[in-house]
Amino acid sequence: MQQETTTERPTAPETTTHARTAASAPERIAQHKTVLMCRPEHFTVSYAINPWMDPTKPTSTDVALAQWQSLHDAYVALGYDVELIDPVAGLDDMVYAANGGFTLDGKAYGAKFAFAERVPEGPAYMAWFEAHGFEVHEPEHVNEGEGDMLLSSGAILAGHGFRTSLESHDELRRIFDREVVSLRLVDPRFYHLDTAMAILDESTIAYLPAAFDDASRAELERRYPDAILVDEADASVLGLNSFGDGRTMVIAERATGFARQLAERGFETVGLDLSELLLGGGGIKCCTLELRR
Ligand code: ARG
Repeated sequence: MQQETTTERPTAPETTTHARTAASAPERIAQHKTVLMCRPEHFTVSYAINPWMDPTKPTSTDVALAQWQSLHDAYVALGYDVELIDPVAGLDDMVYAANGGFTLDGKAYGAKFAFAERVPEGPAYMAWFEAHGFEVHEPEHVNEGEGDMLLSSGAILAGHGFRTSLESHDELRRIFDREVVSLRLVDPRFYHLDTAMAILDESTIAYLPAAFDDASRAELERRYPDAILVDEADASVLGLNSFGDGRTMVIAERATGFARQLAERGFETVGLDLSELLLGGGGIKCCTLELRR
């Protein structure tokens, strides 16, 4: 694990809006986090369901395991409670726990995957939620869990366009009785909301504007005038696919510009290399499902 600092980083183009200097940035307070993860014991790329995946490229399960462990250990070092679900042989993508469902207020909305290869993960995660005290809601409509659903300011920001169906957003409203803000994704490289947007704290987000259609971008600008706008270079290493507790963001170490933007806002950053898991089209956040009981 490498602790990022502002000083050693090469200068990248300035894309932060309303950036504060580190000196005037507010003090950030950590919220305790509980997350679910799945060891990549069966990780490989044997099919392609997103533009990052190429089954002809070699992958190493051992490297994936070591990189995943670094993420697990970073969370433990930050004081998170990390719970584990048993990996299932033959489910290459099960390591991307974010897609396993969406939890809030002790309820778990199960996932219904868009591609056949991942469909069996839905029931596997639902069984785990059931066994761990959640009120489980079986999904009627296609949705890929927290990969496309992020909690911000008490509302659920929900992606659609590639995986999660717009119909599932109504299910979300019904189950959780929260405001649901539908956001349309338009760039196939950023096919899940959590590849195009990061939650920084209760009310602060970072995102790649070009990943959204015009109406969604306008909605984001209206709701989050203070958001960090991340550039293509950082988004293209899945820099936005990051997770934090309101004080420290765990991010892809190659997302150096984003790290600098975060530091300017007073966030600590921990940079990790999850390049092997990027071969499956996922990063830090994809490997993380937040549990809200
Ligand atoms: N190979 C997986 C898929 O295409 C990657 C999932 C990444 N997960 C995420 N939350 N963005 O479904």
